[in-house]
Amino acid sequence: MFSKLLLSSLSVLAAYAIDIDTSSKDSICSGVSTLSNGILDYYLGTRYGGNVGMFQQPYYWWEAGEAFGSLLDQWYMCEDTSNENLLFEALISQVGDNYDYVPLNQTETEGNDDQGVWSFAIMSAAEKNFVSPKTGGVPYEWAELAENIFNSMFARWDDECGGGLRWQIYTDNTGYDYKNTVSNGCLFQLAARLAKYYDNSKYTYIADYIWQWTEDVDFLTETDDLITIHDGAHVWANCEDITDKEWTYNYGLYMVGSAYLYNYTGEQTWLDRTNKLLSRATDIFFTNSVMYEQECSTPGGSSKCNNDQRSFKSLFSRCLGLVSVLAPSTSSTITPLIEASAKGAAASCSGGSDGVTCGIDWTVNEWDGWYGLGEQMSAVEIIQNLLVGQRPAPSTSSN
Ligand SMILES: *[C@@H]1O[C@H](CO)[C@@H](O)[C@H](O)[C@H]1NC(C)=O
Ligand SMILES: *[C@@H]1O[C@H](CO)[C@@H](O)[C@H](O)[C@H]1NC(C)=O
Repeated sequence: MFSKLLLSSLSVLAAYAIDIDTSSKDSICSGVSTLSNGILDYYLGTRYGGNVGMFQQPYYWWEAGEAFGSLLDQWYMCEDTSNENLLFEALISQVGDNYDYVPLNQTETEGNDDQGVWSFAIMSAAEKNFVSPKTGGVPYEWAELAENIFNSMFARWDDECGGGLRWQIYTDNTGYDYKNTVSNGCLFQLAARLAKYYDNSKYTYIADYIWQWTEDVDFLTETDDLITIHDGAHVWANCEDITDKEWTYNYGLYMVGSAYLYNYTGEQTWLDRTNKLLSRATDIFFTNSVMYEQECSTPGGSSKCNNDQRSFKSLFSRCLGLVSVLAPSTSSTITPLIEASAKGAAASCSGGSDGVTCGIDWTVNEWDGWYGLGEQMSAVEIIQNLLVGQRPAPSTSSN
């Protein structure tokens, strides 16, 4: 992206920005479509000799899973089939020899959270009736693939710290000795969604078990008004050396899982948990209702978020949208947050040589000079979630 750097150093030749009328579906979808081209600028699959399903360095494989989840929502909410083939090929390309999204190429680096982020996209494909993988020669449907992911992840649950998934899958990788909320939150959301999708209480039971462990180990702490989610801890410290970082996407994952369970079971406990997570998230991740990644970004100030961290708002935005639909009483809180953040995000998408490159800081009403796959996906997600209530509910296997 040399050209973008060059132009930014000449200090903004043209500020096109994305002009979105938040009350018009056509306007939102046309903006999202433009911004998604910016996501695909980083995609290798459309380049000569490039790997289908992969994004260019330095973007890890898990960010591809996140990007395809974004494109899938665009396909669904905007009823936009222009990337359907690209998306289909990408999703089935990474399925792996065991049909559980552990492709051979990733076995050196893949973590539980990476597989879990792909599961988000695969489960959405099931709920949204995306083109069947069987038409591409895969012997399973999307929901069955999601179950394969679930089984492969849950088989890694071990007894250190009384349960839970480690961050990493492979012993040689940094983080194999660390248990964290993102890996377990991914498994929790998947169990909750499978419970609803298959109307199967086995998954409700397991989701509850995952929640309980997260609470027992104090990765999640509850008061009368709110629930706080911490990042994780090391197995050699019996998970007592808790890293106190609070990231948007961890809240998103536990919140969306709780909302699915509330929606499926109707139980007040899950609604209370959803509300308490939302309450804490609203307090710490928004300023004037505009979202920011508080651990590494200061509104109107400096950011020091790494490549991964720059994409967390994307998953969080997607979760917020889903929560507002699954637990409708939350929408009066969530909708204004999505609206204000989407406006800020759209205003930030006025950078680069194309004039529609998105920045990291949504509070400044202009491009702040940052760009990348994470910035681009986060803007797409928050903007398209303006439409989340306008489409039918996620489906289950029975309809
Ligand atoms: C794995 O990597 C090889 C070499 O880069 C590539 O040809 C192949 O398509 C990759 N497989 C997947 C599933 O991405
Ligand atoms: C479950 O979600 C659907 C929309 O997805 C919503 O119409 C319904 O009211 C929700 N159920 C509950 C118990 O809130």
